Amino acid sequence: MTTNKPNQVLLRQDVLVGADLAAWLSRGGGEGLAQALRDPGAVMAQVEQADLRGMGGAGFPTHRKWSPVAAAPDGDKYVICNGNEDEPGTFKDRFLLEHTPHQVIEGALIAAVATRANHVVLYVNPHEARALAAMREAVSQWQQHAQLKAIEALLGRPLSLVVVPSSGLYIGGEETAVIATVEGGFPFPRRKPPFPAQSGVHGAPTIVNNTETLAHLPGILRHGADWYRGLGLGGAAGTKLYSLSGDVLRPGLYELPMGTSLQELVFEHGGGMLQGKEFKAVFTGGPSNTLLTRADLDVPLDFDSVRQRRSRLGTGAMIVVSEGTSIVRKVAEYVSFFAQGSCGQCPPCKGGTFQLARVLNRIDTGRGVQSDLVSLANLCQLLPGSGRCGLIDGAVTVVESSLHHFHHEYEALLMG
Ligand SMILES: Cc1cc2nc3c(=O)[nH]c(=O)nc-3n(C[C@H](O)[C@H](O)[C@H](O)COP(=O)(O)O)c2cc1C
Repeated sequence: MTTNKPNQVLLRQDVLVGADLAAWLSRGGGEGLAQALRDPGAVMAQVEQADLRGMGGAGFPTHRKWSPVAAAPDGDKYVICNGNEDEPGTFKDRFLLEHTPHQVIEGALIAAVATRANHVVLYVNPHEARALAAMREAVSQWQQHAQLKAIEALLGRPLSLVVVPSSGLYIGGEETAVIATVEGGFPFPRRKPPFPAQSGVHGAPTIVNNTETLAHLPGILRHGADWYRGLGLGGAAGTKLYSLSGDVLRPGLYELPMGTSLQELVFEHGGGMLQGKEFKAVFTGGPSNTLLTRADLDVPLDFDSVRQRRSRLGTGAMIVVSEGTSIVRKVAEYVSFFAQGSCGQCPPCKGGTFQLARVLNRIDTGRGVQSDLVSLANLCQLLPGSGRCGLIDGAVTVVESSLHHFHHEYEALLMG
């Protein structure tokens, strides 16, 4: 983890104060919320000018997600902070929840002020026991704080601020599964539309934002959209948490300007490849996207630039693979994870991910034949769009991409 760089917003050493609200406030905490309370009508424009994008996977513009909720008439409205984070290689939200819980809560409260939401739910993975404890303690401190009363005065009704443990399952992080869990049900996704902004928790307009997305808000409101935009590189805005893991010398959580190149992340911050091995590829944004390869080392790690390489920045997770590490093995592991994580409501997703995993494992263990490659290609054609959430599409994307870039590795493992 890097701290105390001048352009850091989330991981500054002096704001990593745990659940101590007084310490957070003494370091400028609360000023972003105070600004939002002074001029609630201006928050949406600030967030739009800051070009804040969703850090939970899709990079969707935050102000566009909020607008329909803000425009909905007063009544029950929900802001949910999604802290489920169960995808392999992503480990940023648990850090924020544990080490700077007040920043996350302040961000969620700013979202509530902007949209006039009267319910704020902090949805935390119970497997992260320290994060859950820190959030519970932090909430109990906010309950006594004057700013909460100021929000209630603005709304003209009580504000509920609660921690809800997630199921701890991967699927429980998908936004409609989040809503189902908050309603007290099983973490089962449902089809969209209606989108949560139209009909979320108990039918009320609902925002589900990733933990990191919300944690950027206090800084944006406190210092302004221009300041935030200026932190990024090459036209990208702000900073990003990159979860760097795999075959690098210094894996860890790095907060860097949005738009930092893959080369710089891996070879400068990450210290380069483990044991001087050759760089081969990166599974980006959680292992559900198109692989980046050596030809992509120059790519600026921001949403638009990574998309131009037909991949996605996703959560900012970067799982680095060196020459000598089997891509087929890695893909087989990740697809098995997706197969186990599928909720089972959509037969093509449950059956398709298991079928993909079975074929991949067969090839990986040297028992594959040529027709298995045909099966994989056929499944990659058939399965996309066949589930009610994005799980199956992610699993297919990583298989398809590995077949495209590393077909020779698959061929080499076949029998005969
Ligand atoms: C299977 C699956 C699991 C997901 N898990 C998470 C998660 O743990 N945390 C998260 O923020 N988003 C997760 N997402 C994305 C959410 O559905 C949603 O897009 C996100 O919380 C929106 O936040 P953002 O707009 O701030 O990025 C998941 C999506 C899918 C399809």
